[in-house]
Amino acid sequence: MMNHPVSPNAPTASRAIGPTEFRAAMGQFASGLTVVASLDASGNPVGLACQSFSSLSLDPQLVLVCIGKGSTSWPRIARTGRFSVSILAADQQEVCAALGSRGPDKFQTIPWIATAHGTVRIDGALAAIDCRIHDIYEAGDHLVVIGKVLDLATRQDGDPLLFFRSAFAKGLAA
Ligand SMILES: Cc1cc2nc3c(=O)[nH]c(=O)nc-3n(C[C@H](O)[C@H](O)[C@H](O)COP(=O)(O)O)c2cc1C
Repeated sequence: MMNHPVSPNAPTASRAIGPTEFRAAMGQFASGLTVVASLDASGNPVGLACQSFSSLSLDPQLVLVCIGKGSTSWPRIARTGRFSVSILAADQQEVCAALGSRGPDKFQTIPWIATAHGTVRIDGALAAIDCRIHDIYEAGDHLVVIGKVLDLATRQDGDPLLFFRSAFAKGLAA
């Protein structure tokens, strides 16, 4: 392990950073957008829009999503032990808006597909990754949910739906 000398004058306490300042800094990180979804016990689709998705491990194949502890959809998904992550395409802003809000029937206008794994993919997504819940870690006001990949599907065309500075974004020129 490398030894990094820490100045004896280095502050040990964190600076008081307000939520607005924190969000503004985190919002500089551009990402895609996904939907995390499953079929609940009654056979109804349940899901939420999720920015915090990442590929995690190649062997074994793992992905992760971070879910707010206040999510009402997540406990219903967690009970199934499974979920799909659908990576949204540029023309799926309405899907993101519908599933990124709280409501009784968020899927009413959303085209979705049930998988053999009992999960829900969003029709037209760039890719869909079906997972079994592998691990869940508590971290502050979120859960870090790790999924073991069971199956996936990828479209060969289409642009991604991008999110930057708390808003949908156009692709940025190099
Ligand atoms: C663009 C966007 C990105 C979001 N990213 C996340 C996320 O990464 N994690 C999360 O838990 N909720 C995220 N949300 C919020 C959820 O989609 C949803 O609004 C929230 O969980 C409340 O809905 P629920 O009670 O049905 O779960 C995001 C919402 C939007 C609009």
